[in-house]
Amino acid sequence: MQRLRVDLDPLRETLLLTLYARALDARLPHPILGDTHSADIADAIDYDFAKLELKPSLVCGTALRAKKLDEAVRAFVARHPDAVVLDLGCGLDTRVLRCDPPAGVDWYDVDFPDVVDLRRRFLPDRSLCIGADLTTPGWLAPLPRDRPTMIVAEGLLPFLPGDAFQRMTRQLTAHLTTGELAINGYTRFAAWSMKYHPTIKAIGITAAQGFDDPHDPETWNARLTLVEEQLLARAPEVADFPRPLRAATRLMSHSTALSRQGARILRYRF
Ligand SMILES: C[S@@+](CC[C@H](N)C(=O)[O-])C[C@H]1O[C@@H](n2cnc3c(N)ncnc32)[C@H](O)[C@@H]1O
Repeated sequence: MQRLRVDLDPLRETLLLTLYARALDARLPHPILGDTHSADIADAIDYDFAKLELKPSLVCGTALRAKKLDEAVRAFVARHPDAVVLDLGCGLDTRVLRCDPPAGVDWYDVDFPDVVDLRRRFLPDRSLCIGADLTTPGWLAPLPRDRPTMIVAEGLLPFLPGDAFQRMTRQLTAHLTTGELAINGYTRFAAWSMKYHPTIKAIGITAAQGFDDPHDPETWNARLTLVEEQLLARAPEVADFPRPLRAATRLMSHSTALSRQGARILRYRF
């Protein structure tokens, strides 16, 4: 099979990291997410995935947060069969396939225009795509205003500069009437320490945004109310982590402060 060469700048290249983490999870004897579509897409891309040196913690953490965000989307869609779903900074994530929403749901995948073009090659006709820089105003004008909307943003927060994530969230909740925002949270320490992570260093990007208190977004003037903070170190799926990682994660799970430094899912309603 002829594999496709992709030419992405470091900010966009991070989508290959999460794609490959899901692909590696799918090949584990006991996958957490089991997303074989991601494995198929990674196989079709000509890229030196080995340079990312993905460790089991990143593979399992990425698969688990994707699974928890999928659950949040599915639960929202089950309550609102006329929902709109926005996957912001979607990259090549196959969430729309995993969640397989009913016909009444409009699903929008949003990322930079060249990423959206790439997405159309691998995931044609599965969702409505918007090619835009999320830090610029105007991209959300075509979105329906009056339907319950699930906004999901995975792996996006640390890569938007300054207070761009807050501004984008304010614009979204000003445009939309009601809905939920679900993200994987990063503490300030977790976001800062990412730049020393071998995988992020291999890509050559500096990531920096995060917040510690899950209530912080309630102060963004975006009408957000915290519904749930899930500390994934305490998730039952940790039982399927490979042994040394499982033991370390269980140890960490005894401390809320330490668990917060790991993967966590934050859900807000507006
Ligand atoms: C770590 S990847 C995560 C991709 C996907 N959510 C996943 O979990 O596989 C970050 C994504 O955010 C996108 N992104 C970063 N900054 C963006 C911006 N200003 N506008 C649109 N997309 C952006 C990147 O192109 C990339 O696809």
